[in-house]
Amino acid sequence: MTGMKKISLTVADQVFVLTGSGVSAESGIPTFRGVGGLWRNYRIEEVASPEAWRQNPRLVWEFYSMRRHVAAAAKPNPAHTALAKLGKALGERLFLCTQNVDNLHEQAGSPNIVHMHGELFKSRCDRCSRAPFDDTHTYDPPAGIPRCKCGGQIRPHICWFGEMPYAMERILHELDRCSVFIAIGTSGTVEPAASFVARVGGRARTIYIGPEEPLNRTAFTECFLGKAGEVLPDLFAVSATS
Ligand code: OAD
Ligand code: ZN
Repeated sequence: MTGMKKISLTVADQVFVLTGSGVSAESGIPTFRGVGGLWRNYRIEEVASPEAWRQNPRLVWEFYSMRRHVAAAAKPNPAHTALAKLGKALGERLFLCTQNVDNLHEQAGSPNIVHMHGELFKSRCDRCSRAPFDDTHTYDPPAGIPRCKCGGQIRPHICWFGEMPYAMERILHELDRCSVFIAIGTSGTVEPAASFVARVGGRARTIYIGPEEPLNRTAFTECFLGKAGEVLPDLFAVSATS
């Protein structure tokens, strides 16, 4: 995207970046709502809800095992790399919050990512308070549901519909102190993430990046249309003075 205008950032800026599944699309991980999206092929309430877990945990694990297979084969794309580079330039002044459950931001070298919807390669007990743990296994039926020592069932460390996203206290704190808010590759349809921009609007610069306008487009003051992997590498200009 030559000749496209840049986003100028200075040492005085505190930047909040929210990423969505569009950022991993060019790595071959499907989004949720577009053509070929996961929610076109699976019913949310059958694979990604507490009710689904109660009624058919095997189907839930089949779904997340499939997603582990897909994500394990994926590599970071230039969008992930550009955000890792921005993190190196801004240090503590970049807060990267992702709705994605893959680990491509980590693989690209971004430090301290907050995964508000959980992590695909972690599991936890559905009964006791044992901390989420690394888990790359796939639980394809007919194998049984793995069990915790306490007798509970091991579930994916994922925020399902009807559950509370993780790290919300930290996220709200970061939203309230940012001077620039940038959302990338997210359709603006899932709460509470869809309302982050409205919370900071009027106080912070608000920028959207993606190939099409999100549902909450009017809450953003700037919109850069294009694929994240094509737009991000040349988008940021960080200067040492404010
Ligand atoms: P959606 O599938 O709702 O939206 C994907 C967005 O990515 C769309 O706005 C596309 O235009 C955009 N997009 C597609 N290709 C892109 C590219 N190459 N570069 C940049 N953007 C691109 O996915 P999310 O908004 O991430 O939650 O969905 C939010 C949440 O809904 C997910 O975290 C997941 C889902 O249900 C849970 O599972 C809890
Ligand atoms: Zn347990």
